[in-house]
Amino acid sequence: MAILVTGGTGYIGSVAVECLRSRGEQVVVLDDLARGHRAALNSDVPFYRGDVGDRALLARIAHEYELESCIHFAALAYVEESVAEPVKYFENNVEKGIALINELLQAGVRRMVFSSTCATYGEPEQIPIPEQSPQWPKNPYGWSKLFLERLLDSYDVAYGLKFVALRYFNAAGATEKCGEHHDPESHLIPNVISTALGKQPTIPIFGDTYLTLDGTAIRDYVHVADLAEAHVRALEYLRQGGESDFLNLGTGRGFSVLEVIECARQVTGRQIPIRIESTARRVR
Ligand SMILES: NC(=O)c1ccc[n+]([C@@H]2O[C@H](COP(=O)([O-])OP(=O)(O)OC[C@H]3O[C@@H](n4cnc5c(N)ncnc54)[C@H](O)[C@@H]3O)[C@@H](O)[C@H]2O)c1
Repeated sequence: MAILVTGGTGYIGSVAVECLRSRGEQVVVLDDLARGHRAALNSDVPFYRGDVGDRALLARIAHEYELESCIHFAALAYVEESVAEPVKYFENNVEKGIALINELLQAGVRRMVFSSTCATYGEPEQIPIPEQSPQWPKNPYGWSKLFLERLLDSYDVAYGLKFVALRYFNAAGATEKCGEHHDPESHLIPNVISTALGKQPTIPIFGDTYLTLDGTAIRDYVHVADLAEAHVRALEYLRQGGESDFLNLGTGRGFSVLEVIECARQVTGRQIPIRIESTARRVR
């Protein structure tokens, strides 16, 4: 029996595949490669290039691999893009996500670990944000994730689908084999490193008037290997009969944009010039 990993050639998914395989788990990966990289997977990992909304393909995979569970990473995940093109986000993340979950149910799969996000909270009332906080996303990306959280909850009640929705803060870091590679790259740390390497002249800072000590935005960063491990543990919890749950994955301590850049300067010994952009840009 195998675990279906959707989005398994993407940044976090590929590290999760590494982690699962190192524990002897059977995995099969489904990814359309829209934002992922085939090279992020070892050649012996069973891989289907396809869409999570393709129910015929899902039925075939479920039949061939006797799926026991699914870790669902596949999604479009840029806040700004979701604001500019909400149709794309609701179609890809919600409509295709529903098709995936419905087909898995049909195939008898009753366990899912779902990549959710702290963007489902919107403007937090309290920091660190408890899981019970109100959720009112500020962009279509956050709504698309919240919608699937609600769907999973309803499917548990109606059909006994057990799930853990992991609301991540910001993934960071790499393993020896896999790391972050988006094009264009919207995340701070890869852009800081790219500036340190001289691949871009400056690092833009979107807003320096936030109510923080240095005026730049603060984010909570979690190492991608820890995120991957959390998925494996969530799956283990469900296998042992655990009830469905919603969990934050963060460290509880944030770092400002300037703190991250300063740290990178110290580690690399490079200058890393900055450029302040007046308009604040939301990041996930
Ligand atoms: N990176 C972060 O900091 C972060 C934070 C919170 C939540 N998340 C969530 O974690 C998950 C993984 O994020 P990531 O940073 O690895 O993103 P990523 O873009 O690197 O990976 C997503 C993968 O999903 C694939 N995909 C997208 N739509 C698909 C579809 N319809 N069918 C098949 N494959 C499809 C892409 O090709 C890509 O390989 C996403 O669901 C994202 O919303 C990420």
